[in-house]
This record gives sequence, C-alpha cells and structure tokens, in this order.
Amino acid sequence: MERGIFISIEGPDGSGKSTQIENIKRYFKDKNMNILFTREPGGTAIGERIRSIILDNNCSEMDYMAEAMLYAAARAQHVAEKIRPALEEGKIVICDRFVDSSIAYQGFGRKLGDAVRIINDFAIGECVPDVTFLMKLDPRVGKHRIREDEQDRLELEKDAFHIDVYNGYLELEKAYPKRIFGIDASQTIDAIKDDIYMKLEEVLKSVAR
Ligand code: TMP
Repeated sequence: MERGIFISIEGPDGSGKSTQIENIKRYFKDKNMNILFTREPGGTAIGERIRSIILDNNCSEMDYMAEAMLYAAARAQHVAEKIRPALEEGKIVICDRFVDSSIAYQGFGRKLGDAVRIINDFAIGECVPDVTFLMKLDPRVGKHRIREDEQDRLELEKDAFHIDVYNGYLELEKAYPKRIFGIDASQTIDAIKDDIYMKLEEVLKSVAR
C-alpha cells in the first residue's frame, strides 16, 4: 500500500482545535478509513512522561532551550515509534500539534528563532505533514475559553507571549501556503467543519486512493 496521509492540527490555546479534531476523525471513520489519532507533546509512553515535565506548573525555572529540546525529543520518539510506522502501513495519521507548534511557541514565543527549526529537522527527518489545519483565532479570545485553574505552564504565559506565538503561526502560514490551510476559527463550529471537510475532499482527491 502507498504511504498514508499525515495531517496535523495547529492553533493557539482555546482555538477550538479539539472540537474540530473530533470532526476530522469522524470524516475518515465514515469513509471506513484506517486512522491513527495522536497528540503532542506525548503520543508515546516516553513522550507522555516528557509532556508531564514540560507542562508542570512547578517547573517554572525551565530554560527555554531545554524546553524546546524536550519538545523535540518527545517528537523524535513519536515519529520513530508511531507516526512513521503508521504512515508506512498506509494509515491516515491525525496529529494534535506537531513541529509548527515548536516553531510558533519556542521559536517565536520564546524568541529562540531558527534554532528551533534546526533541532526539529533532526527530530523529524523527512516526516513532514501533508496538510496542516491552522485554527486562526486571536489568542486573547482563545485564552478566555480555558478555565484559569486548568491552565498549564505554557497557557499561563502572558498575553504578549501568546500574541508572539500567534504571529509566528501567521508567518508559517505565509511561508508554507501549500501545506498550511488557515481557517477562520471565529466562525460557527459547523462553518469551520465545512471548511475542513472541503479541504479534506481535495486532499483525498490529490492522492486518488
Ligand atoms: P495542548 O494544550 O494542545 O495539549 O498543548 C500543550 C501546550 O504545549 C500548549 O500550550 C502548546 C505547547 N506546545 C509548545 O509550546 N511546543 C510544542 O512543540 C508543542 C507540541 C506544544
């Protein structure tokens, strides 16, 4: 069987990613297609342990480069153990966040710049998403959708950090117009779903399976 399809979903915290991930899963399940759903940071036993360190509100002294490398380490394990094998089996891989999150949050938010892309090139090799859905919503709106006592170490960052992250996503959208499909996430849930399904039809046609 041919290589599968790799789909990632990105966006600021509170942008409605989780709701639309459920719609994407349903789209492929209704077509009886074989999917693997996974998330970052995490997705493997090792990755989930790294996730708990990175997001722990007690780890406030974490160095930004250490943070970027932990995300990249979790990702390397994720690609090797789950994503690449699933794609080789011809599965549709749906990943909640991937490398663009590191570039936006660590590269732009933490201002580590191109170093983040370089360490992630090592981590992922050739394993780049075929299509990335970017949920576009002002991060100040998104933040209010998350209860304060449920916010993790990254979500607790100030508005200025989240605005830098969001601008990073917009730069990525400009840099990779073929791969990244921006969606107006201020629309109704159904309108967003329609945009996503339209794009998925196009993706399936382009691989003509
Ligand atoms: P989640 O809330 O979507 O599970 O993501 C966890 C947090 O980790 C979220 O605030 C975004 C952040 N993050 C990064 O900063 N860099 C990364 O590479 C990834 C995957 C997530």
